[in-house]
Amino acid sequence: MSEPVDYRDYHEPVLAEATTSLLVTLPGIYIDGTLGGGGHSRRMLRLLDDLGGKSLLVGIDQDSDALEAAGNILEAWCGKSIFLRGNFSRVKELMAPVTQGAGKEMPVMGFLLDLGVSSFQIDTPDRGFSYLRDGPLDMRMDPEGPVTAADIVNGYDEPSLARLFRRYGEEPLGGRIARAVGAARAAAPITTTGELAGVIRQACPRKDLVIKTLSRIYQALRIEVNDELGVLERALQEGFSVLSPGGRFAVISYHSLEDRIVKRFFVAKCSADWGPKGLALREPLKAAEAVMVTTKPVQASDEEIGRNPRSRSARLRVIQKH
Ligand SMILES: C[S@@+](CC[C@H](N)C(=O)[O-])C[C@H]1O[C@@H](n2cnc3c(N)ncnc32)[C@H](O)[C@@H]1O
Repeated sequence: MSEPVDYRDYHEPVLAEATTSLLVTLPGIYIDGTLGGGGHSRRMLRLLDDLGGKSLLVGIDQDSDALEAAGNILEAWCGKSIFLRGNFSRVKELMAPVTQGAGKEMPVMGFLLDLGVSSFQIDTPDRGFSYLRDGPLDMRMDPEGPVTAADIVNGYDEPSLARLFRRYGEEPLGGRIARAVGAARAAAPITTTGELAGVIRQACPRKDLVIKTLSRIYQALRIEVNDELGVLERALQEGFSVLSPGGRFAVISYHSLEDRIVKRFFVAKCSADWGPKGLALREPLKAAEAVMVTTKPVQASDEEIGRNPRSRSARLRVIQKH
């Protein structure tokens, strides 16, 4: 077992100021669908204290380690917060006991998704997310999830692996890496992050491509293990439906595949449907259901990127439900 990582070292959430100030505007229920180390939640709770009135923060995470750590970090607000273990794509079902119980008669005014893995998860070798630290080839955000990265690396045929690396990693060397994985596992199954990193390093035709290729292949595997894109599509639908009128939906994404899905969904919700061109209707077939709060995605300043390199690829988008 590796040394446990201390969550208290991870207190600076990505795009903290913009996210919380654009999200928290009125008292009510706020859902942090990606509780992680509780950084965004803590700032949301502070803003809610300043607003006064009746509020409740609901923190959701599929990782029990995160829930335990956030529970400690947010102890001061124990009467004003509830933590739930589960997948944010099932937010409606997870929220049912809250909206019928402690949060009865309170509107749901905000839903936040800060996508991907936490720094804490990446830095814990036993979770198997990092090519820099050797550990079991796992990558499950929910430690009880059904499929590990080792299952995929050793179980998918080479063409499926190549497709996965190209599609979810946007990796041009996907076919070459898949063939290298096939050859390596024919000798013995690949079971650790270090072994897989070694195979990828060897298969890279140029040294300057190694780090990019490693991060793309690891990203592809992580997305597949956790069904991240499918889960995001469902969470956008469910998250929007649980919001009360005037509630805000904020999503921070970290790569173009996620951001594309969020942008498409938000644009659709903020657009009226006037039917085919030339129909000249008096009223739209479907009115817009929301308005954009961020017309362009918010990105981190150079200063924040300097302090917190993880914020480099972050894109924040926010809408408000009518
Ligand atoms: C980037 S971190 C969030 C960090 C957090 N905003 C903070 O300030 O500390 C993402 C967290 O969301 C969780 N997560 C990712 N996908 C999830 C899902 N589908 N359902 C529930 N939790 C998820 C991960 O386990 C991780 O703890």
